[in-house]
Amino acid sequence: MYTWRTRALADLPPIGQNDAMTTDRRDSIAGGFTETASDYDGAVRYNIEGAQRLILTIPPGEYNDVLDVGCGTGWATQAMIDRFRPARITGVDPSEGMLEQFQAKLGNLDGVEVSLVHAGVEDMPVAPASFDLAICSMAYHWFQHRWVAAEQIARALKPGGVVAILCSGKGGEQAYRDIIADVEPINYAWLGAFDGNLRDIGEMEGYLTKAGLEPIDIWMERRTRHVPVEQYIERMRVVAGHIIGDPSQPEVAAWLSTVEERMREHSGSRGWTYDFMKLFAIARKPAI
Ligand SMILES: C[S@@+](CC[C@H](N)C(=O)[O-])C[C@H]1O[C@@H](n2cnc3c(N)ncnc32)[C@H](O)[C@@H]1O
Repeated sequence: MYTWRTRALADLPPIGQNDAMTTDRRDSIAGGFTETASDYDGAVRYNIEGAQRLILTIPPGEYNDVLDVGCGTGWATQAMIDRFRPARITGVDPSEGMLEQFQAKLGNLDGVEVSLVHAGVEDMPVAPASFDLAICSMAYHWFQHRWVAAEQIARALKPGGVVAILCSGKGGEQAYRDIIADVEPINYAWLGAFDGNLRDIGEMEGYLTKAGLEPIDIWMERRTRHVPVEQYIERMRVVAGHIIGDPSQPEVAAWLSTVEERMREHSGSRGWTYDFMKLFAIARKPAI
């Protein structure tokens, strides 16, 4: 008999403090995701399909204990349940709002025991060597400490355990970056965030190997999308509103409206065209 085991959010442990790193930026990222959590599923169709593709690439096996890092509203967990039917899944995320959506969406599931943990990857309170599989879908690029994140994931895996990561890759969103680089006053925080977030295959290989993991397959997917301008802007608001700024402030509103105008000028009959890179990685912790 399976049960849904989610502690009430009020009972969840507080985000741990690690003296070696600041949590300010993580709190602001998590707060941003909490603010837009109820709009997330509607705005990120591509993330949902990405999570499904990530899970499809996991080598066949028996994965009873699964860790979903940066679990958000639960799309990767859902895909995992659909393909592998694990016995237990632990979702970790520092955004309370995202965890609430996860709980509301997957609360009536039969057949899998789910625990939600309110924490960041850097100091997640999970037992070492306790998971057969760790998944991390469209969250790694938001981590402030990626070397530490890989170490923490490696620590949580059992010997022989597998990790599957999907994140934003280097080279994407250039058309948008070109536009915002030319709208004044320049939004340096937003412009710089792309360089801070987007990573290449070699960098991912470095995170994994330094953490003692053995990469099996790392690859980049390049997609060219045509979408209505408003759909693109909504996705940016939902995933990165905390960086772009508060549109209730006149200066931010004016800046956003100029960005939108320029995007429309650069749009064709199929809407706004942009490239998006998705970086995938599958690795294994060596068996003893
Ligand atoms: C774009 S969402 C992806 C959610 C989900 N995995 C999915 O595939 O839809 C990114 C998630 O990463 C979480 N996140 C941000 N910083 C984090 C950190 N330091 N540790 C763990 N999760 C983090 C955010 O709160 C957010 O829920």
